[in-house]
Amino acid sequence: MKQLIVLAAALSLGLTACSKGGEATGEGAKAPASKAAATQAAPESKAAAPATEAAPASEAAADEAGGDEAKAEGDAPKAEAAAADMEAAKTLFTQRCVTCHGAEGKGDGPAGAALNPKPRTFSDAEWQGKVTDEHLSKVIIGGGPSVGLSPLMPPNPDLQAKPEVVAGLVKMIRGFGGK
Ligand code: HEC
Repeated sequence: MKQLIVLAAALSLGLTACSKGGEATGEGAKAPASKAAATQAAPESKAAAPATEAAPASEAAADEAGGDEAKAEGDAPKAEAAAADMEAAKTLFTQRCVTCHGAEGKGDGPAGAALNPKPRTFSDAEWQGKVTDEHLSKVIIGGGPSVGLSPLMPPNPDLQAKPEVVAGLVKMIRGFGGK
C-alpha cells in the first residue's frame, strides 16, 4: 500500500511536470500521456489531493500580483487601465484557473483531469449561448455552489472588489468560445 501511495504521488508529480512541459512546447503531443496518467492516478484519492491543495497557494501569489496591478491602475488613462485589467485577468487565469480549466479552457488542466464533475470545455458553443455574463461573474466570485454547481469550482471572494478583473475573466471565457 505504501508503495502504491508513493507511486501515485510520483505519478501526480510527473503529471504536473509533464503538463507544464506540454504547455511550453505545444499541448497536442503531450496531452494523451497526461490524460493516461490522470486516469491511473484518479482511483487513488490521495493522488488527487496535492493538486487540489495547490490552489490556495497559487491564490496567495495571485493576490500579491493583483494588488500591484490594482495600484498601477489608479492613475492610468482609461484605455491603459482596460489593458491592465485584461493583463491582470490573464495573469490571474494562469495562476488560479489553468490548474483545473487548462490553458485553453478545455477543462484539461493537470488537476482538472482528475475532477468529477470535470470542468466543461469553455469553447462549447451551446453552453456559451446559454449562460449570461452575470452567471459567469457569479460563479467566478461565489464558486460552483453559488449557481448550483459543484463546490469543486472554488470561490474567489477577493475578486468581489475587482469587478474589472472579473469582467476580464468573463471576456477570456467568451474568447475561448471564439468571440
Ligand atoms: C480546483 C479546480 C478549479 C479551479 C482552480 C477553478 N475551477 Fe472553475 N470549475 C471547476 C469545476 C470542477 C467546474 C464544473 C462545476 C460543475 O459543472 O458542477 C468549474 C466550472 C467553472 C465555470 C463554468 C460554470 C458553468 O456554467 O458550467 C466557470 C465559468 C469557471 N469554472 C471559471 C473559473 C475561473 C475563471 C477560475 C479561476 C479564477 C476557475 N474556474 C478556477 C474547477 C475549478
